[in-house]
Amino acid sequence: MNRILCLEMRGISKSFVDVKANRDINLTISSGEILGLLGENGAGKTTLMNILYGLYRPDDGEILVNGEVVKLRNPKDSMRVGIGMIHQHFMLVEKHTVLENIALGYDEAPFFFPQRTLRKRIWELSAQYGLDVDPDKPIWELSAGEQQRVEIIKALSRKADLLIMDEPTSVLTPQETEELFDILRKMSSGGHSVILISHKLEEILNICNRVMVLRKGLLTGEARIEEVDKGKLAVMMIGRQIAAAYPKADINPGDVVLEVTGLDVDSDRGLPAVRHLSLQVHRHEILGIAGVSGNGQQELVETITGLRQPLSGSILMKGVPLDHADARKAHTLGITHVPEERIKYGIVPNLLLYENSVLKRHRDAPFSSWIQMNYGAIKDHAGKLVDSFQVDTPSINVRVKNLSGGNIQKLILGREISGGPELLVAAHPTYGLDVGATEYIRKQIIELRDSGGAVLLISEDLDELFMVCDRIAVMFEGRFMGQVTPESCTVEEIGLMMTGSTIQEE
Ligand SMILES: Nc1ncnc2c1ncn2[C@@H]1O[C@H](COP(=O)(O)OP(=O)(O)OP(=O)(O)O)[C@@H](O)[C@H]1O
Ligand SMILES: [Mg+2]
Repeated sequence: MNRILCLEMRGISKSFVDVKANRDINLTISSGEILGLLGENGAGKTTLMNILYGLYRPDDGEILVNGEVVKLRNPKDSMRVGIGMIHQHFMLVEKHTVLENIALGYDEAPFFFPQRTLRKRIWELSAQYGLDVDPDKPIWELSAGEQQRVEIIKALSRKADLLIMDEPTSVLTPQETEELFDILRKMSSGGHSVILISHKLEEILNICNRVMVLRKGLLTGEARIEEVDKGKLAVMMIGRQIAAAYPKADINPGDVVLEVTGLDVDSDRGLPAVRHLSLQVHRHEILGIAGVSGNGQQELVETITGLRQPLSGSILMKGVPLDHADARKAHTLGITHVPEERIKYGIVPNLLLYENSVLKRHRDAPFSSWIQMNYGAIKDHAGKLVDSFQVDTPSINVRVKNLSGGNIQKLILGREISGGPELLVAAHPTYGLDVGATEYIRKQIIELRDSGGAVLLISEDLDELFMVCDRIAVMFEGRFMGQVTPESCTVEEIGLMMTGSTIQEE
């Protein structure tokens, strides 16, 4: 097969049982282009790309490469014509090395595949595109950014001319995002094309040449990047501008809700993750924790929510000690948790939507009495969640795994926030959400604070922290480098603290 100079999708439609996910979509991309694919959660972006990668068959429409119709019945067919796809959840074998993972994808048995040739190929690709990875390291030792590079090398080593990336930056630090964009720019000047799905409008503006917008399965807009700005993209996507700031009641913080003193926690690998850390969160207060992920945030959150045993130090929730890992007790004391890996820990994929809407609370009134579950009350609750958190779903009777990525998130956030918790611990609550949903979730978090709740918000998005928080603590290597108020500090100063410098505290 020749290189892909031009790829066309013509009149593509795809329905699932109750949803028309793609309706008569036309898409064209030429060699060297970086095309942004935008759209609200559930708009049909992943479905369209899964069709291009041979994972789904379209009900209607055709795909042409260099003017010739191609049949893409499975990913192998797609790879053969030069299409590669990197999913949001990487598909690497954790125990194997980089080299073994790259070898795995070849038709030839990896056992017989000449390692020397492959090693040379990896080395060439690394040098050409700046894809820095150690071929002999096992996958589990690599950061998200490094794993993504392995996926890119894997696709390139199979001669992908067109690379599809589904929300590639949601797992990356700002630094890693920049590195990825450098790689993509090099690829595009070498004649590769890229289709990039992202909810971050700045990124689309920064890296793409052209953008297409989907809405409820239809292609609703298309533009060259010079013709648009953030405001225009938002209007194309959700039909209106996005908020620059969120109204917040002028309330002084109340009593201490959570008090952490001298906390030490180890990571899974037995290394110190949280080091002698202390913090307080009050009623009517949102404390933000800024920091590059991997600096102990996850271990801190897990310890506070009763999922991880601390080595030493104390955690008091409304004065009651939480010194043993006991998630049930943390829940009973009024702590709710939106975990970072929510698809893994926040839902049971094979249960129905309404069943997932009361996870952890299914034993509580009104969902259950001492003899039986009250399905009426559960379904009623699920219906309200779907309405108020705008979960895009055909009904409350679908399996949760069939919802789009962003809609699963909205359901989990809705469930946790709507319980009226005394303390909400939310890790990256707006990851993967479209701009409209992001706005809605931020408002909900502020409303919870206004009505007397305490919030601990872990985020890497500094704009988000500045817009939402009353105080921001910056975490680096398990410690706080400083605690500031958004009014007294600049984004640049926080950025510096995130990499380990201290600034004068107030
Ligand atoms: N395997 C499936 N079975 C049933 N419905 C599905 C399936 N895959 C997707 N859908 C539905 O198709 C629609 C489009 O989903 P898709 O995952 O393409 O959205 P998306 O634009 O990628 O959204 P997000 O930004 O949230 O990732 C959604 O309503 C979703 O529930
Ligand atoms: Mg998607």
